[in-house]
Amino acid sequence: MDKLVIEGGVSLKGQVSISGAKNAALPLMAASLLASGKHTFANVPRLRDIRTMQVLLSNMGAVSEQGDRFELDTSDIRTFEAPYELVKTMRASVLVLGPLLARYRKARVSLPGGCAIGARPINLHLRGLQQMGVDIELDHGYVIASASRLRGAVISFDQVTVTGTENLMMAATLADGVTVLQNAAQEPEVVALAEYLNKMGARIEGAGTTEIKIDGVRELTPSDFTVIPDRIETGTYLAAAGITNGHLKLRGCRPDHLDAVIQHLAQAGLAIEAGQDSLEVRRVSKIRSVDVKTRPYPAFPTDMQAQFMALMALGDGVSLITEQIFENRFMHVLELKRLGAEIELEGRTAVVRGVRRLSGAQVMATDLRASASLVLAALAAEGVTEIHRIYHLDRGYETIEKKLAAIGAKVWREKT
Ligand code: EPU
Repeated sequence: MDKLVIEGGVSLKGQVSISGAKNAALPLMAASLLASGKHTFANVPRLRDIRTMQVLLSNMGAVSEQGDRFELDTSDIRTFEAPYELVKTMRASVLVLGPLLARYRKARVSLPGGCAIGARPINLHLRGLQQMGVDIELDHGYVIASASRLRGAVISFDQVTVTGTENLMMAATLADGVTVLQNAAQEPEVVALAEYLNKMGARIEGAGTTEIKIDGVRELTPSDFTVIPDRIETGTYLAAAGITNGHLKLRGCRPDHLDAVIQHLAQAGLAIEAGQDSLEVRRVSKIRSVDVKTRPYPAFPTDMQAQFMALMALGDGVSLITEQIFENRFMHVLELKRLGAEIELEGRTAVVRGVRRLSGAQVMATDLRASASLVLAALAAEGVTEIHRIYHLDRGYETIEKKLAAIGAKVWREKT
């Protein structure tokens, strides 16, 4: 197992190229099951989760190769299963459920268990599919789903769910009649998926709003698509500039996907200038303590909560950070405290009292974004921090230590 070693205290300066978004690439890969043949994707990040989805699809008979472009051939799909071994390492594996049912009318997908950030059930995915006429049985931890045909339905989500919206949108593309998804997720990744599905011949309207209408078609054909930039990676590097009092230019990003993040970081004392596909960021004051509440897009994302907390750990006052998406996404709090942060948990709110300095220590990564927050805190801390279990980081941040080293960070990977 690798650990990341960081000697903190350097102001980061220079340019960072932002990678393609993991959470946009994964649904696109699952969508390839909807149309037999060769799909081509550009800007797919090289990450563990992408590799896991590749293995999952190849177990079903897909052939893929990641070179400059990502080629995915789904001409010969023979099995319709997402096994426990893969779903337990990556919950996004459930994204194959909708496409398999739409195209092959059957699927056997392991139920994901709870994970480090919460219980994360898939009841809303399953209920929506049932409304479309799918029979669902739970057997030995697996969802066994089948349908003679899928029919359009009006599906109203009790709670906004990103992969739930994606799964049902994919299922509806080949259903008989019209499906309406109400209280749908509005995330840019949902919009990108709808754009690719429409490019394949689907008829989807309203993606990016709370109501998405899908008029089922008989068949889809493979096409090509460029994955949108990773807004969470972008936000993480913005925070890195802030916490190290640095000056960065981020290239290949989509500033318009980060309005809420940019607004909060600006309040916290960062000057952020947006270009068409770039952002320039530097700190212009001490770090100011700012409150934040996570909510579905376009509000402040839960996937930036931990990183924002690292910044607030060095704020000039008290910051209240309220997590409203996942009930248990505070595993980073104890680790940040090991670095000297003063944080108390009151239910779903973390009360962060800014301190003057953090100091290096041994810490443990517990999930992807928690790991990113530890990296940020370590970059600002005095002395050396060792972050253990960084395989979490490799799930979602492409070549993070190379990107950080290129802007001056003293960071390296060691075997433990
Ligand atoms: N929920 C239910 N029932 C469902 C589905 C969701 O109760 O059937 C609840 C969840 O437990 C949670 C809330 O609804 O409390 C929202 O969950 P959502 O379904 O939106 O999360 P997700 O689709 O599983 C995606 C991202 C996450 C990101 C969340 C929220 C992908 C592959 N994953 O997860 O990304 O945190 O949306 O924005 O798109 C990450 O990248 O680090 C990550 C965890």
